[in-house]
Amino acid sequence: MPTILTQESLAINDLRLSISGSAILRGVTLTIRPNTVFCLMGRNGVGKSTTLKALMGLLPIESGNIAFLGNSIERLPTASRARIGLGYVPQGRDIFPHLTVLENLFIGARAQGIKPDSAATDRVFTLFPIIKEFLKRKGGMLSGGQQQQLAIARVLLTNPKLLILDEPTEGIQPNIIDQIGEAIRLLRNEDGMSILLVEQYLDFCKELGDDFAILERGAVSAAGTMPQLTDEVVREYLTV
Ligand SMILES: Nc1ncnc2c1ncn2[C@@H]1O[C@H](COP(=O)(O)OP(=O)(O)OP(=O)(O)O)[C@@H](O)[C@H]1O
Ligand SMILES: [Mg+2]
Repeated sequence: MPTILTQESLAINDLRLSISGSAILRGVTLTIRPNTVFCLMGRNGVGKSTTLKALMGLLPIESGNIAFLGNSIERLPTASRARIGLGYVPQGRDIFPHLTVLENLFIGARAQGIKPDSAATDRVFTLFPIIKEFLKRKGGMLSGGQQQQLAIARVLLTNPKLLILDEPTEGIQPNIIDQIGEAIRLLRNEDGMSILLVEQYLDFCKELGDDFAILERGAVSAAGTMPQLTDEVVREYLTV
């Protein structure tokens, strides 16, 4: 299927969602251009993770539209969204501690009935060499940063078109943050992927991001291209 370059990767329009009667998303609207890194930012508790869960169909929305590569997906079950190319790495990683790295690595693809070929696994080992080195270790033996790399690798083996990462740098040592940043850059530049990055680490966003949106109390209060994320915007919407 030819890729139409002018079409957006993802368009979320006026997404609304309540949990136990309180409005958590109050009309989230954002557009992700193809082959870009989009940073969804905002202080704690503004609805970043909830937006991703709604995008994946893990929480029911009240209203709004989600279009992925031009097709409405807001009524699809989670498994179908994954199958058509949404690759989601939740906040906190979700590695199975008692399974080996190898077992953890293939479990996502297997659940989708995908048998990753050697090109896909080689790509993952190139991006994250430590995974190849530690294949036989238990997942729980890896450091937090290595578990984050494993969680990303596992999703990459499902061949996502849009990689969705929820705070991949949270609680992770600086050298692994650099490796994850480099992997994101390569996935965009060499693999043509789009990446939706939820992140509070400002410098990481500024270095990697093409576009940004900032959430406040469940709605986008500022958005633009990364050069438009000025110190003034940061002070107003991000500084605690
Ligand atoms: N299961 C739940 N029950 C009740 N309230 C919830 C639930 N999940 C989230 N919330 C509330 O929804 C709001 C948004 O939460 P969300 O996890 O989306 O924030 P976030 O922007 O990802 O924050 P953080 O940066 O801390 O990860 C918060 O006020 C939170 O308390
Ligand atoms: Mg969150």
